Amino acid sequence: AAAEKGGFRSFMDKEIHDQPQAVADTLLGRTNASGALVLDDVRVDETLLRAVNKIIVVACGTAAYSGHVAKYAIERWCRIEVEVELAHEFRYRDPIVDEKTLVVAVTQSGETMDTLMAMRHAREQGALVISIVNTHGSTIPRESDAVLYTHAGPEIAVASTKAFLAQVTAAYLLGLYLAQLRGCMRPDEIAAVLAELRDMPQKIHTVIERGEHVRATAESMRDASSVLFLGRHVGFPVALEGALKLKELAYIHAEGFAAGELKHGPIALIDEGQPVFVVVPSPRGRDSLHSKMISTIQEIRARGARTLVIAEDGDDEVHAYADEVFWIPQAPKLLQPLLAVVPLQMFAMALAAAKGLDVDQPRNLAKSVTVE
Ligand code: G6P
Repeated sequence: AAAEKGGFRSFMDKEIHDQPQAVADTLLGRTNASGALVLDDVRVDETLLRAVNKIIVVACGTAAYSGHVAKYAIERWCRIEVEVELAHEFRYRDPIVDEKTLVVAVTQSGETMDTLMAMRHAREQGALVISIVNTHGSTIPRESDAVLYTHAGPEIAVASTKAFLAQVTAAYLLGLYLAQLRGCMRPDEIAAVLAELRDMPQKIHTVIERGEHVRATAESMRDASSVLFLGRHVGFPVALEGALKLKELAYIHAEGFAAGELKHGPIALIDEGQPVFVVVPSPRGRDSLHSKMISTIQEIRARGARTLVIAEDGDDEVHAYADEVFWIPQAPKLLQPLLAVVPLQMFAMALAAAKGLDVDQPRNLAKSVTVE
């Protein structure tokens, strides 16, 4: 087993380090000689895809959070409504689905029973089903109309890391492909996003290289009993995933919130010393999200929170209000999750290790849940 871990302390540690490659491999070979996006594995009649008027992403756990990121990107690029639904909730509410609905099932294993049942239900209603899957030869791709494979390689650690980054990447590709097909973006706009995506593996590598600060912070927080995570826009699913990682690995109560929701309730949780991670959007955007997030950090800090901030290089404003800053390279707003989630993965892993826990095999969890 030591050899399989390639010199890393755990499979999870190895898989975190595999992430630049997982993203690069998922992007590989997706364009033709003229630079247009081609998804060879998505063999679906293009007229059906052009007719789609609603997308529903169904998934569970970490895969569902990749779907949340997909929603922001696909709606922005394609102007198609995207819903994201936990697979086990989807089926039982008699969802409104027809021939013009595209259901995207996202799954690392391809075997999650809840996700399989949701996509079967959708197909019975006439929906087109495209799955985003990591494991070849699994059940969900066999039952889908088409499959877009992530190329993360085998993921052994129960808590998902590289599969998540690969799922997010595949979702971006699907969004750009639909935008190309439906003429919602110009070829040069699509090429520009693809170029930015191709820069992401190097940037992810940079985040991993800066891991020492995260590790030291985690080790100092061995006794934490609750950690909160705040994000906005695409940072919201990142916050949810950060909280999930911490629950799964370190058995610490953790919750992710949309930062704007704080004032509607969760801010009551903030008291002296409460650790709160905050995912700060790019300061370069033309919207006001960055300044709103700075105010949020000020508010919680004034109430005693210990603020652990993830911010982009060059963001001069965060310093004043952050107890710790974990820097990530600059990236376009929609692509930031590929970077921002990495310190949170490393934090959960390091905290679990500091508590002497088994990071690859957390208690009570299974890598793939094949029962409903
Ligand atoms: C299990 C795993 C999670 C995973 C979820 C969905 O609960 O412990 O890490 O996110 O299943 O798995 P899938 O294989 O469908 O992505």
